[in-house]
This record gives sequence, structure tokens and C-alpha cells, in this order.
Amino acid sequence: MKMKMLSKKNNNVIFFWWLGMIMKFCFLLCACSENTSLSGGSKKINSFGSTSIVKLNTEDNQQLVIDNGIVSVTLSRPEGHVIAISYNGIDNILESENDEDDRGYFDVVWNEVGKPSTFQRIEGTNFSVIAADENMVEVSFLRSWTSSMSGKDVPINIDKRYIFRSGDSGFYSYAIFDRPEGMPAVEVDQIRYVFKLNQHRFKYMALSNTRQRSMPTMRDRDTGQVLAYKEAVLLTKPINPQFRGEVDDKYQYSCENTDNTVHGWINFDSDEPVGFWMITPSNEFRNGGPIKQDLTSHVGPITLSMFVSTHYAGKEVTMAFEEGETYKKVFGPVFVYLNTDSSKNDNTTLWSDAVQQLSKEVKSWPYDFPKSQDYFPPNQRGAVFGRLLVQDWYLQGGKFQGTNAYVGLALPGDAGSWQRESKGYQFWTRSDAKGYFKINNIVPGDYNLYGWVPGFIGDYKYNGTITITPGGVINLNYLVYNPPRNGPTIWEIGIPNRLASEFHVPDPYPTLMNKLYTAQRRDKFRQYGLWERYTDMYPNDDLIYTVGVNKYRDWFYAHVTRSKGNKTYEPTTWQIIFEHEQDIISGNYTLQLALASAADADLQVRFNDPSIYPPHFATGLIGGDNAIARHGIHGLHWLFSIDVPSDLLVKGKNIVYLRQSKALSPFQGVMYDYIRLERPSSKT
Ligand SMILES: *[C@@H]1O[C@H](CO)[C@@H](O)[C@H](O)[C@H]1NC(C)=O
Ligand SMILES: *[C@@H]1O[C@H](CO)[C@@H](O)[C@H](O)[C@H]1NC(C)=O
Ligand SMILES: *[C@@H]1O[C@H](CO)[C@@H](O)[C@H](O)[C@H]1NC(C)=O
Ligand SMILES: *[C@@H]1O[C@H](CO)[C@@H](O)[C@H](O)[C@H]1NC(C)=O
Repeated sequence: MKMKMLSKKNNNVIFFWWLGMIMKFCFLLCACSENTSLSGGSKKINSFGSTSIVKLNTEDNQQLVIDNGIVSVTLSRPEGHVIAISYNGIDNILESENDEDDRGYFDVVWNEVGKPSTFQRIEGTNFSVIAADENMVEVSFLRSWTSSMSGKDVPINIDKRYIFRSGDSGFYSYAIFDRPEGMPAVEVDQIRYVFKLNQHRFKYMALSNTRQRSMPTMRDRDTGQVLAYKEAVLLTKPINPQFRGEVDDKYQYSCENTDNTVHGWINFDSDEPVGFWMITPSNEFRNGGPIKQDLTSHVGPITLSMFVSTHYAGKEVTMAFEEGETYKKVFGPVFVYLNTDSSKNDNTTLWSDAVQQLSKEVKSWPYDFPKSQDYFPPNQRGAVFGRLLVQDWYLQGGKFQGTNAYVGLALPGDAGSWQRESKGYQFWTRSDAKGYFKINNIVPGDYNLYGWVPGFIGDYKYNGTITITPGGVINLNYLVYNPPRNGPTIWEIGIPNRLASEFHVPDPYPTLMNKLYTAQRRDKFRQYGLWERYTDMYPNDDLIYTVGVNKYRDWFYAHVTRSKGNKTYEPTTWQIIFEHEQDIISGNYTLQLALASAADADLQVRFNDPSIYPPHFATGLIGGDNAIARHGIHGLHWLFSIDVPSDLLVKGKNIVYLRQSKALSPFQGVMYDYIRLERPSSKT
């Protein structure tokens, strides 16, 4: 096939730079047999030694090919699916045995209100070239919604964009979601960008320095035994016997949005190992804020970029649009990065190089090259800075304290609303130990500033709308967060950090392990089946925690149901026993009850009477984050500040009964973050 050149001559600066690169390349040609020659973003020359010029070939009506001398990508036309990625002598990095729409694609899960949800690949109907010169090609695959698509296609206009630049060892992708006037109501649960790689090549997966391993295959899953739900499979007849007896479940490879930055696969079998990486330099377009968890890569071999999902949160974070509601948002760009390493020294080279590439992408974020008018380049963004301090009057005489806080902007709402907010952009940072923070690169608009502080309960919200303008910088000076506190602490259990990880996370069943996590205490909660351990530890009687005797490590990480066999379960009631040594102070005590997760649960709280009805307090039916089944150590966060009238307590021994009353499945329950009993304030 003929390549159409759309380029003119390089300018002088680039020319001399290339000259240098060519000389470097010639040097490498002579020396490469001994030297490590790692290729990636720094490789600016193709295998023929010519300069990297981006070529777009649109001669075929069914597909187009874009080649920058490093990678060559074939896209279907006008659908805009990624059919092939050629790199380093490999014809197609993607799984050629799959249908053309099942290799590299965007998809959406959506539903009309009250109806079941539909999975849909996003297929462009209108292909256009947005920009094309020797340095950069940007192409668009637009799918506009019309009323004839009612009920069949998600009522959003979707423009998928791909950007290829000279010298890049990969390509950028983004998508613009647009609801002009007049569209029907819809709920969108998920937006993803998916790659299915060649299964014979990619066998090693990496998503962090410690979370990387050789992986079983899709066939190993097909021949295995499905466990409590279809995603979790016990590998009984794997091709490679090393995996026999292990559990595979894609949710074991989830991570929080903040950490979901680079992950992918390595092909070690070819002459030169090749890495395929999904790099997400910013979380601004993802839903649910910085600690929402989501999928990364998993057996297939599959690599995802999750833009929006209800994972670890539930339907309450769906993107819900009313009839006629207008909307526009840019998801991405994300960078698909390829690298190779001729040295074959060790497994970490390609991973470390991908991490370095991530930091380059982060440094150049926001990008200045996407052509969409809807994308906000660096010079149109604003910033906000300030200092957030905490003042908990009970601690250290009520002095201000520094924070290491999470501070972020999200659409206006109540304190803490950001974790259920899925439509707008969010911009988060961590303040330093003295509370100073600066959030850069904010898309113009109206926001609230939110925060929370590890070590303290509750959610901070700045009282006032933050209006970001292009180039505007807002100084908020001192902000003070007064966390909920009604009186001095009598006792507390756990650490207020929105996680249940400090509690007792049991050992997995030896027959149901993922060996990746056997040596890693920190990731132990990602093992399969830990919820069942509760029934082993407490076959008849439930957990009892005695203040002053037990430590929070004795507290089971999840308040789950007890299995009675034959797929039946029963509610469980945990007890906290404490001595109130002094006389009871009249007024309200406060039970600060912070949950790290809730799944179809109703948590009832009773004081000194296990059977009083109605209970002294009940959360009501809450939660759909499914974090117990999906090995999350948290889902959505909940805080209940419960008034405890003093006549419910007695001088001497008291018992708080925590009963999770819903028991239809093994995955129902809550995870606690932190519990504190406060006595009535003597302050007021
Ligand atoms: C590197 O990966 C190969 C192939 O998956 C594996 O056999 C080997 O144990 C790994 N080496 C290290 C040091 O992780
Ligand atoms: C928030 O600001 C408004 C307007 O300045 C003021 O009336 C209100 O009392 C403030 N609320 C709090 C909780 O500080
Ligand atoms: C298990 O439950 C099923 C359905 O409720 C019932 O028919 C069966 O007798 C039960 N088996 C045992 C051993 O209890
Ligand atoms: C104690 O809490 C109850 C229930 O919330 C409330 O009605 C009552 O006013 C409170 N009493 C005091 C003294 O604050």
C-alpha cells in the first residue's frame, strides 16, 4: 500500500536535532550488541534510520493507517476502532484473532431510567482529518445521536480522537462527550477505553513496583472453576502448571484513581521484549474523586483505561442526565506507550521506563496539542492555593495542626459530595505537612473546594463558590477545618483514614490464593474469599471487642454475614464492651461511626439492650459499593454522628451492639473506618 506524504521540509532547528539523533543512532548500530538500547519515547528514528515523520494514509475506504516511523496504527473507518498496532517488527500488538471491533475500542454502559443497562461499543459514523502535517496527525471519529437512535444508542454525541506525533513511541486518544439541547434522559454507568493484546505474546503484567507478575491465560480461566461470582476463577488446568490452584480475578488488580496512572503488559518471548502501557497523566476527567478504585489490566491480556465507572461505589455514582440536560466533557487524552529493550537484562527495565514516561507525560500535562475546541490547553486554566489547617479542640489543647490533607475542587455540592460526583471535572492534590496546597491546571468553571484529613473524621468544604477563570489564580489564605467533635474521647477503635486496612485482615485459604500477594502484607486484602474467614473465626458467637483489652488489630476488617451452609446466611451482631468508671454525665454522648464501605447493609446500633426495637439508631439500607466481594479495603465513605442520650448508658459496664441485619448473601455488610465514643461536652 502506498503512503501518502503530507509533510514539508523540517525547519532548521528540528533538522539539526534530528541530525544529532541520526548520529546517535549510527553509533548505536555499531555498539548495540553490548549496550543496553532501551527504546521508547526517546527513540526518534525509525528502523531505516530516517527521521520520524507522521504519515497518514487514507486511500482505503475501510481503514486508515497512521505511521510515524516508530509505531504504525490501523483504524477502522468510519468506526474508529484500533485494528492493529505495529511496533518493533511485530505486525500487530493487538489480538488479530479477535473481530476488528474487539481489539482496541471505547465503550459505554448506559440505560434509560428504570430500564436494564446496555453495553455498547462506540462506533464513529463520520471520519475526518482534524490536522495532518509531518509533526502531527489528529483524526476524529464522530457518532452523532439522532432521535431515530432512541433506545438503541446512548443519547450523547461522541467524538473519538487519536493523535500521532513525530517521535512519540505511541499515540494519544481522547473522547468528547456532548449533549446539546433536546436529548432524552439517560444514566451512564461506565465509559472505558479497552485494548486486547496478542495472547501469545503478552504474559507479564505490571501495575506498580510490587504488583507485577507472569499471568495465566484466558484459556486457563475458561478451563477453571468459577467461584462465588463469574470474575473469580480457580485455575484447575492451566497450561503453565505454576498457576494451578491459584485464583484469578480482575478485581484483584484494582487500584485507587490516584495510583491508576500506568499499567500494562510485557512480551518477553520475542527477541526484544516489548511493553504496552496505558498512561493516564491526570485524573481530572475520572469520576468519583481521587480514591475511587477501578480496574487496570487483567487476564486476556487486557488493558483498560477507566474513565467512568460504578466500581467500588455503586449505582449512586452513575452519571444521570435529565431530559434536555446539556453537557460537555473531554475524557483524556491518555497515552498508549510502547517500549522495547534489547538488553533483556531483567524484568524491571521496561516497567521503569514506562514509569519515567509517565512522569514526562505528567510534566507536560495539560497538553498543548489536542485540537478540540472543547479541550482546555494550559493557558486557559486557572489555579487555587492556600493553607488548610485542622483544629480539633479536644486534641493538643485545640491548637492548629498541619494536615497532609486531600484538597480538591469538584462541582458544587455538600461536603463530601465529590465521592458521588461523576459528571464534572475534579482536581485534587495533597497538602504538605504544614497544610499548604496548590491546585494547578483547573478547567474554568464554578466549583466547591473540598477536603479531608487522614487522622480526622469528616469532610471539609470551603464556604463559598470557587470560580476559576482562564489564567486566574485564587489565594484562599488560611482555611480551618473543625472536624466533628461533641466532647472528649472516651474510647476509639481504628484510624480515621477511610480504610479498613489497619484491622484484622485474615490469611487467605491456602487453596484460594493469588501468589502475587502472599509476601505482601499491605496488599493482603486483595486475596479472594477473606469474607468467609469470619465464619471460620466466629462459627457461633460474634466478635466482642473489649475496650482496654483488645487492640484494633483484633477487629475483623469487614462486618459480614455468617454462612450457615447451603447458601444461607445470618445477620451478625458485634459488641463493644467498655467500663464507664465515672458517674454518667447527663446530656448526649456521641458515637462517631465512620464506615469505609457498605454493601446492601442496614447497620443497627443499640446501647445495653441487644433486642430493643426499633434500635436506638439504624443507618437504614445503605451502600452498593460491593467492596467486600471485590477485595477493596474501602468503597464509599460514610460518617454517622449518633446522639446517645445519657440515660442509655450506666456507670460501670456498658455494651454497644452493632448488628448488620441484612443477610441474603456473603457480600453484604460494612467495613468500619473508625468508631469513637465522646462524652457530653463540658465546654458548652
Ligand atoms: C521475569 O519474568 C519472567 C517471565 O515472566 C519470569 O520467569 C522471571 O521469574 C521474572 N524474573 C524476575 C526477576 O522477576
Ligand atoms: C457561609 O457564608 C455565608 C455568606 O457569607 C454566611 O451567611 C454563612 O453563615 C456561612 N456559613 C458558614 C457555615 O460559615
Ligand atoms: C438446601 O436448600 C434447598 C433449597 O432451599 C433445600 O431444598 C435443601 O433441602 C437444602 N439442603 C440441605 C442439606 O439443607
Ligand atoms: C440529644 O439528642 C437528641 C436526639 O438527637 C435530641 O433530640 C436532643 O435535643 C439532644 N439533647 C441535648 C441536650 O443536646
